[in-house]
Amino acid sequence: MVSPRAAVSALPAYRPGRNPADLAREIGVPKAVKLASNEVAFPPLPAVVAAISQVAGETNRYPDNGAAVLTGDLARRYGVDPGQVAVGCGAVTLLQQVAQAYCDPGTGLVYAWRSFEMYPLLARVAGATAVQVPLVPGTDGGRADTHDLDGLLAAVDETTRVVLVCNPNNPTGTAVRRPALERFLDAVPATTLVVLDEAYREFVTDPEVPDGVELMRGRPNVAVLRTFSKAWGLAGLRVGYLLAEDPAVAEAVRKTHVPFGVSMVAQAAAVAALASEDEVRARVAEVTAERERLTAALRERGQSVADSQANFVWLPLGERTAELAAALEARAVITRPFAGEGLRVTVGTPEEDDVFLAALDEIVRG
Ligand SMILES: Cc1ncc(COP(=O)(O)O)c(C=O)c1O
Repeated sequence: MVSPRAAVSALPAYRPGRNPADLAREIGVPKAVKLASNEVAFPPLPAVVAAISQVAGETNRYPDNGAAVLTGDLARRYGVDPGQVAVGCGAVTLLQQVAQAYCDPGTGLVYAWRSFEMYPLLARVAGATAVQVPLVPGTDGGRADTHDLDGLLAAVDETTRVVLVCNPNNPTGTAVRRPALERFLDAVPATTLVVLDEAYREFVTDPEVPDGVELMRGRPNVAVLRTFSKAWGLAGLRVGYLLAEDPAVAEAVRKTHVPFGVSMVAQAAAVAALASEDEVRARVAEVTAERERLTAALRERGQSVADSQANFVWLPLGERTAELAAALEARAVITRPFAGEGLRVTVGTPEEDDVFLAALDEIVRG
């Protein structure tokens, strides 16, 4: 019998979220609402659809392995050299590339917990030691759980190759502010790479939450990770990017890529999305306005919800989480439960969110 590596055998099997069409069929309703994966509800922009159609006839060829056009556009947008950019098949794949490039077996990868669920898996697959630093607990009705930057710093030792800081944090939606993050970045040893995972950056409205690309400047051990999956509306195409102050970091990340991993269609769509930034910004403004409405509506219902800087809200329901998620599913609303901790609810359209709120009211009324 062949056996995978022990680290791989120990990984939990991938459990995809409920598919809304399957759920609707199962419970006999015309439509289910999916508020589980932090996608935006808008269809792709017309310019994106046009760009995809245009390259569709060329897909007998391999894509550009170096994604030169997209890399150039990103470099111009952020005022960096193309050598400081690594484009990847989604931010998740870039995280894997970072782990492969920097984490030898036995080295440490440090991150806050609870945070993005891929982080522990990355560490395990790389054979690295995952060092999890608990979030600072929030207070009831006050601040939600957020990063403990002093704790993260204390966890960094000579074996630590990478620290991941998810800002805003998935799934709590909380964000660290400029002075604290600057102090942290200045204190991390120069031999440890800090990756600021800013998958939700575009939804940040608090001016005190810094743009990682600004903080990266002058700090050669800092890189910033972004994605086209969320605000830019391209989750189905898989494209993200890493920007690094030190071109050697971007180069190391590019070296561990899967050849031709970013499809021709994804590259063309991302280029078209960047060229439609005004429309994307207008959509993001709709999402953040709806986030505030949803937050207020939940608070009116007595739910403890922190201010979110992302396109989702977090209900710290503890032991009640799984039960509420199941009750919502029975009413055709799919959310993302973290059993024993809380429920993450993606900001949908106002109509979708009203379906969620009505389902919640029905459950609470019993
Ligand atoms: C914090 C965080 N980082 C990265 C990603 C990955 O995004 P992508 O779709 O680009 O792989 C996600 C997706 O949910 C995320 O929440």
